[in-house]
Amino acid sequence: MRLHRSFYATLFALFLLLCQTSAMDSAQLTPSAAELHPLVRRATMSPLPNGIEVQAGDLLLKVAALREDVLRITMARGKSLPEDASWAVLADARRSSVPVVIDTGGDQFGFRTHALIVAVDKKTLELTVRDLAGNVLEQDVRPVRFDSDAFRMYKSMPLDEHYFGLGDKTGPLDRRNEAFTLWNTDAYRFQESTDPIYKSIPYFMTYRAGRAVGILLDNTWRTSFDFGKESAGIYSFGAAAGPLDYYLFYGPSPKQVVETYAWLTGTPPLLPLWSLGFQQSRYSYMSQARVLEVAGRLRADSIPADAIYLDIDYQDKNRPFTVDRAAFPDLPGMIAKLKADNFHVVAITDLHIANLPGHDYFPYDSGVAGDQFVKNPDGTVYTGKVWPGPSVFPDFTRQQTRAWWGSLYRDLRHIGIDGFWNDMNEPSIFDSATFTMPENVVHRIDEPGFATRTATHAEIHDLYGMENSRATFEGLRTLDPESRPFVLTRATFAGGQRYAATWTGDNSSSWNHLRLATPMLENLGLSGFAFVGADVGGYAGTPTPELLTKWLEVAAFQPIERDHTEKGSGD
Ligand code: GLC
Repeated sequence: MRLHRSFYATLFALFLLLCQTSAMDSAQLTPSAAELHPLVRRATMSPLPNGIEVQAGDLLLKVAALREDVLRITMARGKSLPEDASWAVLADARRSSVPVVIDTGGDQFGFRTHALIVAVDKKTLELTVRDLAGNVLEQDVRPVRFDSDAFRMYKSMPLDEHYFGLGDKTGPLDRRNEAFTLWNTDAYRFQESTDPIYKSIPYFMTYRAGRAVGILLDNTWRTSFDFGKESAGIYSFGAAAGPLDYYLFYGPSPKQVVETYAWLTGTPPLLPLWSLGFQQSRYSYMSQARVLEVAGRLRADSIPADAIYLDIDYQDKNRPFTVDRAAFPDLPGMIAKLKADNFHVVAITDLHIANLPGHDYFPYDSGVAGDQFVKNPDGTVYTGKVWPGPSVFPDFTRQQTRAWWGSLYRDLRHIGIDGFWNDMNEPSIFDSATFTMPENVVHRIDEPGFATRTATHAEIHDLYGMENSRATFEGLRTLDPESRPFVLTRATFAGGQRYAATWTGDNSSSWNHLRLATPMLENLGLSGFAFVGADVGGYAGTPTPELLTKWLEVAAFQPIERDHTEKGSGD
């Protein structure tokens, strides 16, 4: 009988061992299986002067302190971490480091700074961050999940915690119980439930019991954030591909979190003073005479106004960096007249360049000569239809392309145009099933601080608008170092505040949209964008006089106050 028992016990033990071995095998074979069997990993920890590095099976985790209150967390499958390069986070911030005290024991690896206590579970690699009093600031509730190229992190979501940020995503100020995808999208007539929209700012702030924490996921691929919508008690975020690289920073006040976010991603440059005044716009004032008439009327009626906009119809057939000389026979003269009356002119300059070989169209010819446009996988230049018809698209992740783009502003700047508007830069493409570039379009990364390589549009998409506005901003700085540029962009990414002001795109003339504008702009502010506005009166449709009046009043308290509307609506 005794023999019998030990025989079965041995068999059972063998069975367990077999299960474990096959689990380990599959962990090595498929990366996604690794997270399903976290308990079989053997983790080893290497202390670093500023943190720890943990290797567990095929996972490598690094937690480093950039400051006493700022952590950078990177995780990779394999033995090395991703390239330390970033479009969002400044190199100085990434290079910062403070010494830590290693604090490892029991089930956990960890360390302390003068503000934070960091613990990593030895078996699951789950992370917990506490303040010095032991309050949990952020805690993994599951191991990181890997699924092919994608990854997702799951964090504990206390009942009384609130979430802010993610740029101008629609909905209430508090992101709790909402879920969002970040994929820059031309969202004409977006509504409160529309997602994704124009911008991607993969950063949010948690706030609970007087303690605020910032989290920035530094990943340009399609990302998504879920604040308890899928599972009560859990918030999660992840990306379709690309590096698992995020920053966690402690306040405790929300203001300190925003300041630290600006330390990581940069501050907005001061705008020219006039751009904080009332701005008058519409799609479009169709002629020089009409622009002067509207400006004259504003003055005659003593309506304060500092800027007037030229939407796409000042151009010849919607071709960027051209002028329709029939409708605007003397653009320099018009600008001089407006200037004499203290108006500043802002002109639209969309990023799509008309595909016009053999037409003496300088942006196209010089772009082709300098190899400035993005390509199809077969090496031909990619074309897509936008306002000018078939168009080609600058490769803004190349420093050289940005310098070329910036130089295109010379003539418009020379005749006295003071501000520039970068629209349609999600990019919006009319004849594509996805309304944007196919994900296999090829961009080139040729950039100080980055390995030189090609990248698919799937990686660059969310970044494209920011690099467009960066090219414009840097070009204007080069052309006219004495003036503060005013650049207005529709699409952008984390860090885009360094280059441009932004507005919330094509809203509607309704009371609901007036209400929506406030939390959208507040969340943009919490996401580092100080200079923001929403089309006053609503873009789509015609507001009633009462709605327009209220909107003007509310927008007087918003940083950018621009009255703008679509074609066909009332003035
Ligand atoms: C886009 C912009 C809008 C602009 C129009 C024409 O819809 O969002 O503001 O007026 O294009 O340029």
